[in-house]
Amino acid sequence: MELIKINNHNLFDLDDYSKDDIMQVVSITERLKHGDIKHTLRNKTICTLFYENSTRTKISFELAAKRLGADVIHFNEQGSSVEKGESFKDTIQTLSAMGVDLFVVRHKQFGAPELVHEYSGIPVINAGCGSWSHPTQALLDIYTIYENFGRIEDLNITIVGDILNSRVVRSNLIGLSKMGANITLCAPDILMPKELGTQFNCRMEPELKCALSKADVVMTLRMQFERNDIQNFPSTDDYVRDYRLSTDNMKFARKHAIVMHPGPINRDIEITSELADDFIQSMILRQVTNGVYVRMTLLQSILA
Ligand code: CP
Repeated sequence: MELIKINNHNLFDLDDYSKDDIMQVVSITERLKHGDIKHTLRNKTICTLFYENSTRTKISFELAAKRLGADVIHFNEQGSSVEKGESFKDTIQTLSAMGVDLFVVRHKQFGAPELVHEYSGIPVINAGCGSWSHPTQALLDIYTIYENFGRIEDLNITIVGDILNSRVVRSNLIGLSKMGANITLCAPDILMPKELGTQFNCRMEPELKCALSKADVVMTLRMQFERNDIQNFPSTDDYVRDYRLSTDNMKFARKHAIVMHPGPINRDIEITSELADDFIQSMILRQVTNGVYVRMTLLQSILA
């Protein structure tokens, strides 16, 4: 299997990738999903270093690594020597000294994945950094869109919800704009960072029905109540009334439109249960499945 080679063997964000790199991730993922899987990472050790909670990203990296024959170890801050005062740098250098080949890092601090690489000299994949970046989520989203439409270019992609606090949006904007999508952002004023919309040449549309018009893809986002002063959020009732995706308001989108959500979902807040569980229109579980194959592609491309 032909392997892409990634800048400096790290993935900090999709700035690191060209349009061709992203297309290579898509095509290698496609081959892996159709069964072309070998133990290319035998004798490699991957360490997941998660300073924030995760279900999908952490477990899919573990599964991806194991399916390629690698060993996986997990570092959890709770119960570690961090609780005795060990510094971030000493933690990284201690783990590196045990023979880790790649770190998968989730952290709330901007620049943490880069610091892990600086302290260890070992390849790093960013598995979600604060409100800034989540490149592997964006790649699995791009793969899922491509799997449905056979292209990204010229698709109308509407992103709805807590754009202000979303690392998923930031990485998706880099990736989707490189791939030539037409992007609309839809959020209440307080959750709409206008400079971000301007930077990526997005249409900004506060009215959900208008934002859904002609959409091929509708991506809704989790309300990140934990990241914000609750005062800065619209009331849940107002949000549900104006921005919750449902089978009814999806009728304003194109007939073939798909619905995506990075998860975890707040059921019946950003999306109705009926729509989330609609196994034709909702891609939520397909995104999870595809995440394993995309992460296999990335691990193999960096380490094999
Ligand atoms: N989408 C996502 O990053 O989910 P987790 O927080 O469960 O990893």
